Amino acid sequence: MGSGKGYGKTILFGEHFVVYGLPAIASALSSYTTAEVKIVDGKGWDVNDQRLATPGYKEKKYNEAMQSIQNVIEHMGIDIDSQKLEITFSGDLIAASGVGASAAQSTSLARAINDMFALMLDDENVNQASYEGERAYHGTPSGIDNTASTYGGLIWFVKNLDGGKNTMEILQSPEKIPLVIANTGITASTTEVVADVRHLKESNPEKFENIFNEYKVLSEKAKNALLESDKNLIGKLMNQNHKLLQDITVSSEINDKLVEIALNNGALGAKVTGTGRGGLVIALAKNEEIQEKISNAIKMEGYESWKTMIG
Ligand code: MEV
Repeated sequence: MGSGKGYGKTILFGEHFVVYGLPAIASALSSYTTAEVKIVDGKGWDVNDQRLATPGYKEKKYNEAMQSIQNVIEHMGIDIDSQKLEITFSGDLIAASGVGASAAQSTSLARAINDMFALMLDDENVNQASYEGERAYHGTPSGIDNTASTYGGLIWFVKNLDGGKNTMEILQSPEKIPLVIANTGITASTTEVVADVRHLKESNPEKFENIFNEYKVLSEKAKNALLESDKNLIGKLMNQNHKLLQDITVSSEINDKLVEIALNNGALGAKVTGTGRGGLVIALAKNEEIQEKISNAIKMEGYESWKTMIG
């Protein structure tokens, strides 16, 4: 049997903007998806998906998940005509829109196949295989999710729009920072939301140019703030980033409501993370006491919430 892990992620800055070659910052989560691969008689592959998930997530993503598994197997050149792969997914990452669940799944599968067939692939090749899996979920993924899922840690990521190597820098922050992740419970289609933003950009080029320019300055400040663990500034920049995400229409009433609950309960900053239009919101807390307070306030309103540390 072969096995492998893929971390979940949260995007601290730059979802959607990253698709257009602007920098983004993501942090891997300590929760991960695991894949186990066994060879049995027959041909093709079978999957047993035991991941915990937001209700409706697996159903909505079913076709994409199947295509994603197929993409990874094909990219890795595994013969499924004379043998059958039995694949099992599990782990403590709760599959939800915004947590990098699709990338965690693809990465864990690539690592499990690498282990099963002793392919000796390095992280960059695992990352490539995971990217192929992501294509089934995103259409044109920036690659940030699979990169965070493969390498872990806090990363600065810039997509190379010419198809060359993307820029990836591991950021070392002096302090761990408490974060709350709040779940709207709504599963968004990344492919659809990314395509919608593209149409909007094409019909409003000037508006987007201004937003992109503002974001570019913001992202540099965010990188420095994270390198110094300047929580007040990170929080302020998260609020500004959320405003820009509202401008490009990827927030929603529930996302905004969760942001407001977090801010009213002491968060230094809060924003949509990932695809948006549902999915998740993240909130930065000064300390673990405030983190607990924010998380409880979100739960009191009937939404799921998790606590994690980044940096
Ligand atoms: C999804 O987690 C992040 C997006 O920026 C899409 C991508 O980067 O491929 C919305």
